[in-house]
Amino acid sequence: MRILVTGGAGFIGSNFVHHVLKERPEARVCVLDKLTYAGNRASLEGLDPERFDLVVGDICDEPLVDRLVAASDAVVHFAAESHNDNSLTDPSPFIRTNIVGTAVILEAVRRHGVRLHHVSTDEVYGDLELDDPTRFTTDTPYRPSSPYSASKASSDHLVRAWVRSFGVEATISNCSNNYGPFQHVEKFIPRQITNLLDGEIAKLYGTGENVRDWIHTEDHSSAVLAILERGQSGRTYLIGADGEKSNREVLQLILELMGREPDSFEHVADRPGHDLRYAIDPSLLREELGWRPRYTDFREGLAATIRWYEENEAWWRPMKDATEAKYREVGQ
Ligand code: NAD
Ligand code: DAU
Repeated sequence: MRILVTGGAGFIGSNFVHHVLKERPEARVCVLDKLTYAGNRASLEGLDPERFDLVVGDICDEPLVDRLVAASDAVVHFAAESHNDNSLTDPSPFIRTNIVGTAVILEAVRRHGVRLHHVSTDEVYGDLELDDPTRFTTDTPYRPSSPYSASKASSDHLVRAWVRSFGVEATISNCSNNYGPFQHVEKFIPRQITNLLDGEIAKLYGTGENVRDWIHTEDHSSAVLAILERGQSGRTYLIGADGEKSNREVLQLILELMGREPDSFEHVADRPGHDLRYAIDPSLLREELGWRPRYTDFREGLAATIRWYEENEAWWRPMKDATEAKYREVGQ
């Protein structure tokens, strides 16, 4: 199986590449990644060159994508601009990469009859009230809030249209918030860990009551692999691991695990349009494909993630100052 992984030098993509090469000894992986500020060669170090290849390029480059797709048995499409805060400062790369780029991939898989798995987000469904007993299902209407989530919603619609109109073989997954190694320090959990390692204060947007549904990235990888291998074309699978926690709870657990006082953080400006709560109902994935998460103890997963950032300063240090400078400009 030759798998083309777009965005494979990013957080979730690189974890997926390591996962596939470990779990499927017969698989070969080609990563196509533009190495934007979020992509990092160092996340792919140590892989067997006989089974792995990195092509630095843009998913909007039609001839390049065509050539790489023609040489593949399947495409797993992670490449995206992924950070909500950045989409509020400048939406344009989100429109280009997330929408136009997905259309380029779709046209190539259509031409070559190659199967596609499109990786998307639970944010396409908007948000839930804190006391709403329901969770997102595949029947929840799309109601994205930010330019990022609207661009991902658009990409999902394109995939469904290509399946229905052109008979493209494709699956979609919408996953909740990931945590684990190799996550950019702009994101909530690594930002707080690396701030504390630097002797800086942790930063909570608004009141901190917003809820996210956390899943370890290794569980996201195993779910994507299960869908790629056994999912039904045309179907959408929601990926989640029953990990709902408020931002304040997560932050206080990080503070406790890192030996700080529970109130040693500051409230900073809230994100405009900040989604209140995400929650995933992953029943289809569990019932149809028998998938189960392995990282069910959040405290343990978070402690391991903190250790990873403590032990891998060389990986995150080069991106830290520029990230914090961007946040300072918007009062966060
Ligand atoms: P990331 O920002 O860490 O990585 C994105 C990768 O895509 C980077 O390596 C970047 O260089 C690459 N890229 C960006 N534009 C490109 C282009 N035009 N051509 C080629 N490569 C390009 O993102 P992530 O957090 O790993 O997210 C990966 C995917 O998973 C995204 O599609 C995202 O929407 C989705 N997702 C993320 C989460 C999460 O919690 N982070 C949850 C659900 C779904
Ligand atoms: O739900 C899936 C989505 O999860 C993915 O589609 C996105 O790609 C991914 O970035 C993530 O989006 P969020 O906006 O939820 O993640 P982020 O890490 O940016 O923020 C998580 C929560 O923490 C959110 O409520 C905002 C808050 N926050 C974030 C930062 C960076 C803070 O309170 N302080 C911070 O410093």
